[in-house]
Amino acid sequence: MGIDQKLLDELERRQTEALASGGPAPIAKRHAQGRLTARERLEALYTPHTFQEFGLHAQHATRGFGMDKKSLPTDGVITGIGFVDGRPVAGFSQDFMIAGGSLGSVHAHKICDLMDHAARAGMPLIGFNDSGGARIQEGVESLSGYGQVFNRNVLMSGVVPQIAVICGPCAGGAVYSPALMDFLIMTRHSASMFICGPEVIRAVTGQRTTMEEIGSAEAHARDSGNIHFIAEDDRHALEIVHRLLGYLPSNNMSDPPHQPGVEITLSDDLGLEALIPEDPKAPYDVKDVIARLADADSFLEVQREFAQNLVVGFARIDGVVLGIVANQPHVKAGTLDIDASDKGARFIRFCNIFNIPLLTLVDVPGFLPGVAQEKHGIIRHGAKMLFAYGASTVPKITVIMRKAYGGAFLAMCSRDMGADLVLAWPTAEIAVMGAEGAVGVVFRREIEAAEDKDAERTRLIDEYRAKFSSPYMAASRRLVDEIIEPGDTRRYIASALEQLQSKTELRPTKKHGLIPL
Ligand code: HXC
Repeated sequence: MGIDQKLLDELERRQTEALASGGPAPIAKRHAQGRLTARERLEALYTPHTFQEFGLHAQHATRGFGMDKKSLPTDGVITGIGFVDGRPVAGFSQDFMIAGGSLGSVHAHKICDLMDHAARAGMPLIGFNDSGGARIQEGVESLSGYGQVFNRNVLMSGVVPQIAVICGPCAGGAVYSPALMDFLIMTRHSASMFICGPEVIRAVTGQRTTMEEIGSAEAHARDSGNIHFIAEDDRHALEIVHRLLGYLPSNNMSDPPHQPGVEITLSDDLGLEALIPEDPKAPYDVKDVIARLADADSFLEVQREFAQNLVVGFARIDGVVLGIVANQPHVKAGTLDIDASDKGARFIRFCNIFNIPLLTLVDVPGFLPGVAQEKHGIIRHGAKMLFAYGASTVPKITVIMRKAYGGAFLAMCSRDMGADLVLAWPTAEIAVMGAEGAVGVVFRREIEAAEDKDAERTRLIDEYRAKFSSPYMAASRRLVDEIIEPGDTRRYIASALEQLQSKTELRPTKKHGLIPL
């Protein structure tokens, strides 16, 4: 009676073979380079002993073109489900030790099956990318496999969070699966990502470049804006994944993991007042303001290295998860430019999808003036901010700290763009344009005719500031709900988040709007 031992032995033999991956020597080599194996990455992602693998025995039968003697256990990708902080999360991890982690049809189907499962069950998807790209020996089947993965990335977008970790090569068309996901994390020394590498660029265009310049984590974090976080190594990447998941709901039908009941102080914060310089032109670091408004150590900045004139990230206030969008007066005087608009709009849309309320901190003198900005489409890109705020239905709270000028103020979620609550500090200047510009336009001739031109200009600027840009003027016209002392801001926000928890806003049915891309 009982199961035939031979069957169990056969299962164990096959499992051991598949789990061996590239074998002891290649594994030791990876460890010596400070890198984890594909399986170790998943093990470190999940709570111990919760990982349930799918498709350990899957592998492609195609032979020829140098493949006859190769064994491809798992077909070069490990897929399955495990638990993170008590919630199920789907994960796949490409195994570079198996045919360079290259993607053939079985490899692609394993990922697709996992994606379908994640979408059906409503759980986040995490993908570790470490691959030589399309498996050359499988020809167009590989191309088709990529197409099926990309299509699922799109179908899942807005349904469950998708996070890509680039921890090895990721080149050519293969970059587009991570690019279609919500957050990209790249390890600093072992990862690269590019469409055409330096050799191809040189052969086709004659331009000389390096991988460091076009495909490194630093280049993508700082210049292209393609990624959201740089990790020092695999373990750091996993820390970032864990931290990020801590702010995200499992799917678009759930609330983010708020932590109500955490003991929080909501007393006056006089230190906040001291942060804002007396001189309205003097810069300050908005991250100091965020640190004082958010619960202790709760701010996770997203895209820290890119478009630093706008700061975005997740935080908690009184335990409630929220997304923060803030002008940074420290960089480019906090103006909105093309990159900042792209960064902000993407973050706002992510928060809206996943029911994360938005806090907007405004100190914006306008859109960045310049020929390059106009030529490269600041109109189209700036419009993304307007579109993203206008289209979002999550609770939206706006705090005007200092400057809120012109169209850029509307692009920072003014009342008219759908803010549920607009608070202003007494230092706020809310105006159709800055005082210097306004006086120059309206009183140019009078200033020219004046005996003491400078004195006349200063007098007019002071008059404009007092009459046309004071927060009381804006409040009298209902652009501002309340003018508050900075020290009270945290309390007001906490209370608003509580009140707005059950906010519902229905929009006309449509396929989708046309965000200015
Ligand atoms: C099949 C591959 C492979 C691939 C690597 N290998 N890439 N096998 N298809 N695409 C295999 C190698 O033959 C080798 O097998 C093992 O993986 C390790 O590769 P190495 O070259 O020894 O490793 P390394 O020196 O670290 O170099 C890594 C690499 C390099 C930079 C990624 O392997 C490389 O350039 N690979 C080819 C990249 C590429 O051109 N991919 C196809 C692009 S077309 P053995 O048996 O010797 O250990 C594409 C289109 C996608 O991706 C379109 C999607 C829309």
